[in-house]
This record gives sequence, structure tokens and C-alpha cells, in this order.
Amino acid sequence: DNYEKMCLWAANYIANRIKAHNAGPEKDRPFVLGLPTGSSPIGVYKELARMNKAGELSFANVVTFNMDEYLGLPHEHDQSYWYFMHDNFFNHLVDMKPENINILNGMTKDPVKECADYEAKIASYGGIDLFMGGIGVDGHIAFNEPFTSLASRTGLRNLTTDTRIVNSRFFGNDPEKVPSQALSVGVGTVTDSKEVLILINGHNKARALAATVEGGMSHKWTCSALQMHNGAIIACDEAACGEL
Ligand code: GLP
Repeated sequence: DNYEKMCLWAANYIANRIKAHNAGPEKDRPFVLGLPTGSSPIGVYKELARMNKAGELSFANVVTFNMDEYLGLPHEHDQSYWYFMHDNFFNHLVDMKPENINILNGMTKDPVKECADYEAKIASYGGIDLFMGGIGVDGHIAFNEPFTSLASRTGLRNLTTDTRIVNSRFFGNDPEKVPSQALSVGVGTVTDSKEVLILINGHNKARALAATVEGGMSHKWTCSALQMHNGAIIACDEAACGEL
């Protein structure tokens, strides 16, 4: 019905997956969780942190990989995704191991190596079990803007003017202050995950949701790649369903 219910549903889904993993035959390897930034997941992070503090859910056996990071923003910049993740999530967990947190380094001098190493590290864990994501109004997942290959891997991305304008709300409403490039997992990196859970809320995402599930599969809407995934889940609210 609304944002709060969407977030509770998604948080419960993730928690149940982690608990089932830790009680199952693969409990000796970590659960590998892909994570997004943005306003959409904030309610999910709050609920997961609440569960963790209440002793209902442990993150001790969870390894995380974030989707993306702005190029050129240091950790301490309050709009870096490193800062966002610690401020909104990791700092609120009682048993998350810092060495299990993976976020692309936006200050790297060698983006090609940084991204290749990230892919290799994901592969070293046997891939991602569950990738949670958000979506841009133009249907981008992570920073895979329209016309990014649906087979793309982690790499350097140019941001569209539209995305810089949308994200300028976090940069004093000045699109010029939004970095023009980012490091991002690829569409292929996301769709290689065993499950993908995408959060889509609000009326401004209604066209993107329609393109995701009812449009033709196309690199125009990179979210449409989910149509070919056997374990793709959309958690959305009523407002986002306006164009279905
Ligand atoms: C940014 C991120 C995306 C995110 C999108 C939507 O562009 N790179 O991963 O999905 O914003 O953000 P929001 O959830 O704030 O609408």
C-alpha cells in the first residue's frame, strides 16, 4: 500500500533469506548480500538494523557488496555512498564485521583495476546470493544509465544530465556539483545474482516500473533486464503502480 509496508516486506524477505542460509547446508560460507544507496532503501535499512539490535537477525555471517560509488568523492564526503552506507546502515549494526563490507573506492587512481578486482572478489565468494536495488526514474539500476549494455560488468560510468539533476537534491540543488562519473556494478553483475530484489516506490517511478515489467526488454530501460531473471522480485507501493 505504501512506502512503510514495502520496506517491511523487503526487510522481512532479506532477513528470512539470511536466517534460512545460516540454518541450512551452506551455513559455513557467508551469505553474500548486494546493497544499494538512495532514498528507497532507507526504511529497509532501519528495519534490518532494528532486527539486528533486537537480537532477531545476525549479520556476523554476511558479506556485503555495494552497487556503486561516485568517482572523486572521499569516504568522509557526506554524499559519498561509503558515508551513506555507514550513516544509514552499517554504523547501526551490532555484529557486522567491517572487513565484510565491500564498497567501490571512488578515489581510486585506477578505475579499471578497481572494478576488475571488485568483480573478482564477488566471484571469490561464489557470486551474490541476493542483490537488493533501487531504480532511477529513467529505469537505471545501480548507475547503469539508458543504453548501457545489459551484459555489462563493473566499470566506470558517465551519468546522464537527467540523473545529475535528479540527484542534485543532495548537492544543494546544483547539478554541476553532482559528480559526472561513477563506478558501478554492471547490469550483468546484478542479473548474475541468485536473486534480485528491486524497490520501486512513489509516483515518479511509475513509468520505470511499467517499463521494467511491461515494456520490451531493452537497454533503453536497463531495469528491463530483470525480465529474463528467474529470481527477480519487485517490491513496490501503490503509487508506483500508476502506469501499469
Ligand atoms: C542513484 C543510485 C541508484 C538508485 C537511484 C534511485 O542514481 N545510483 O542505485 O537506485 O539513485 O534513488 P532513490 O532511491 O533515491 O530514488
